[in-house]
Amino acid sequence: MLRKRGALILCGALLFLSLNVMMVGQLWGRLSEEDETPTNDVVGDVLRMADMFEAELEIQNKILMQIQNYQILWQGPEGKKLKQVLPCQPVIPILVMACNRVSVRRCLDKLLQTRPTDKHYPIIVSQDCGHAETADVIRSYGSLVTHLTQPDLSDIAVPPEHKKFQGYYKISRHYRWALSQVFKDHSAVIIVEDDLEVAPDFFEYFGALLPLLKSDPSLWCVSAWNDNGRDGFVDPAAASLLYRTDFFPGLGWMLLREVWEELEPKWPAAFWDDWMRQPAQRRGRACIRPEISRTLTFGRQGVSLGQFYDKYLRYIKLNSQFVPFTKLDLSYLKEETYRKSFEKEVYSAPMVTFEDVKHGQGHLRGPGPFRLQYSSKDSFKVFAKNLGLMDDLKSGVPRTGFRGVVSFFSRGRRIYIAPPPGWNQYDPTWN
Ligand code: UD1
Ligand code: MN
Repeated sequence: MLRKRGALILCGALLFLSLNVMMVGQLWGRLSEEDETPTNDVVGDVLRMADMFEAELEIQNKILMQIQNYQILWQGPEGKKLKQVLPCQPVIPILVMACNRVSVRRCLDKLLQTRPTDKHYPIIVSQDCGHAETADVIRSYGSLVTHLTQPDLSDIAVPPEHKKFQGYYKISRHYRWALSQVFKDHSAVIIVEDDLEVAPDFFEYFGALLPLLKSDPSLWCVSAWNDNGRDGFVDPAAASLLYRTDFFPGLGWMLLREVWEELEPKWPAAFWDDWMRQPAQRRGRACIRPEISRTLTFGRQGVSLGQFYDKYLRYIKLNSQFVPFTKLDLSYLKEETYRKSFEKEVYSAPMVTFEDVKHGQGHLRGPGPFRLQYSSKDSFKVFAKNLGLMDDLKSGVPRTGFRGVVSFFSRGRRIYIAPPPGWNQYDPTWN
């Protein structure tokens, strides 16, 4: 738009100049055609022309003023505000964490297929573990990706009872190194593990949410993941729906440098994701997450040996429809707006019993939403387990929870598993 206006100004200025040149030329021509003693006819012509010239000058003067006004808009009074006015798209690198799985290819292929531009979304693969075959795969992408290698491949001294957790220590060491590398040159990053595949609108989603993440200190991440996003547990018609969650989801997530600077000095030796979920790190902040996940994991063989893979993770539905998030109004996600409308929605929903939700049809009257109330850790766990939702809590926060509320979809109806009205804080002993 601004570029077009610039071209218009230039055209206007040229037109103005050439019109003047033509008119002066015409007048000069008429005068020099005659001899030294001009007749009355010629004097009359010259006077008429002078009048026309004057009128024309007035019009062009107005045009010139308009051009000058536009120029101020376009360049600013000092002619150097151009950069601030132009909506320039920021660069968000994708950091892919790799180790010893050649299947990183599946992750990279999808990223490259769906990435809108390489300029704004450079892909950096950071490899731990020194696995040669995996390094070959990464190198085969040539200049399409930047290949970093974590230099310290030594074993980490761990307490004897943590011997089997050596892998979690290595992951944590790798995260610390890779993030500190990336944040040397960038102010935001999207972290993707090598066993994740991204949805068609993965970049659109993160691109649209960067401004919100930057402007809202009550947010500390944007994640692509819905922990309860199995087919049948999400609303297939709500691909554009986003939430706030107090549970850090990871699994394809965006982080800002300011938050990294706060975390880096105390980065843990192991179990970095659960550490992020502790109150001392989270400090009451939320993440944005989608109704339908923008990543899926194909990593059955991983460090946690498929702890959750066969039961939950493999069923998480990957969004297939492109949602133009950058063109949507996302202001409903702002802290106060969201909290108020979410609480109103949840607590004005009629209460139902576990049996009502379990049996569905006939028991749930009306279109919903409905509210299923829990009042203890155990009742939450019983409900979640029996409804097929993830029942674990970390530092007292249930997966996907926002102010204690877990939202899911069941046979065409929205259900909120919610604490009693008046909730005000999590109990970190609920685990
Ligand atoms: C689980 C989490 C993962 C988290 C990790 C650490 C899920 C599905 N996954 O890992 O998000 O980061 O716990 O708490 O919840 N890696 C290294 N060095 C190693 C081993 C692995 O850098 O020595 C990398 C892998 O390439 C991968 C990431 O660490 O990118 C996670 O490894 P993975 O084997 O997939 O472990 P999960 O059990 O999924
Ligand atoms: Mn994994």
